[in-house]
Amino acid sequence: MDISHIEHIGIAVKSIADSLPYYETVLGLKCYNIEDVADQKVKTAFFKVGQTKIELLEPTSEDSTIAKFIEKRGEGVHHIAFAVPDVSAALTEAESKGVQLIDKAPRNGAEGLHIAFLHPKSTKGVLTELCQ
Ligand code: CO
Repeated sequence: MDISHIEHIGIAVKSIADSLPYYETVLGLKCYNIEDVADQKVKTAFFKVGQTKIELLEPTSEDSTIAKFIEKRGEGVHHIAFAVPDVSAALTEAESKGVQLIDKAPRNGAEGLHIAFLHPKSTKGVLTELCQ
């Protein structure tokens, strides 16, 4: 699949505002972007850690998958995102190797990336995002 690095780690939080002090004051990271992703009914906040980012995900609607995740499992790590040169090709490869896909085709994520998710049933329990 030609993964180059971990693009970001997605972390579900109830409130970005309440989470910022930990990331900024304790960890010393700087939030460089806050963005609404209407598609996924979330607000996102980004921090850079080397070439990897931390993506905080706050639900903006009760029927957001992030709201359901927090309800079931509480706040915490939600997904890991790998950078690939071609999401479509990576999806085709994953499917041909028996992986269940959440997205059959890439869609638009935060920061203008093309993204797609693999089903955690096929990825040893880790919701996996591919992005380009
Ligand atoms: Co993500």
